[in-house]
Amino acid sequence: MALKYQIFLVAGIVSSVALHASVGAVAAPKRSPRPVKVVEPDPRGQNLALSCAGCHNTDGKSVGIIPAIYGKTAEYIESAMKDFRSGNRPSTVMGRHAKGYSDEEIHLIARYFGELQGNNK
Ligand code: HEC
Repeated sequence: MALKYQIFLVAGIVSSVALHASVGAVAAPKRSPRPVKVVEPDPRGQNLALSCAGCHNTDGKSVGIIPAIYGKTAEYIESAMKDFRSGNRPSTVMGRHAKGYSDEEIHLIARYFGELQGNNK
C-alpha cells in the first residue's frame, strides 16, 4: 500500500514538473524592442488623394495656376474642402469635386496631405 502511494506520488511530481516545464517553455516572455512610433500614411487617405493628383500632383505641389496644397496643414485642407463643398468658399472646380466626399473621406485625404509634409500636429 505504502509503495503504491509512493509510486503514485513520484509519478505526480514527475508529471507536474514536466507540465510546468512545458508551460514555462510556451509562456517564455519574448523580449520585444520598445515600440517606435512610425507615422505610416493611411492607405485609404492615399487612395482617395489620388483623385487630387491630376490637378494638385501626387505631393500637392500643383503645377500652373492651380494653388498648391503642399505645405498646408491637414486642418487647413479639411476646412477648405468642407467650405468648397458647402459653397461657403467660391470656386470653379473644387466645389463640385468636394461634393463627392463624405466628412470621413475629406478627413482622410486632408490627413494624408498633412502627414505627407510632416506638418501634421
Ligand atoms: C480638376 C482639377 C482639380 C482637382 C481634381 C482637385 N482640385 Fe483642388 N483646386 C483646384 C482649383 C482650380 C482650385 C482653386 C479653387 C477653384 O477654383 O476651384 C483648387 C483649390 C484647392 C484647395 C485650396 C488651396 C488654398 O490655397 O486654399 C484645396 C485645399 C484643394 N484644392 C484640395 C483638393 C483636394 C484635397 C483634391 C482631391 C480630393 C482636389 N483639390 C482636387 C483644382 C482641382
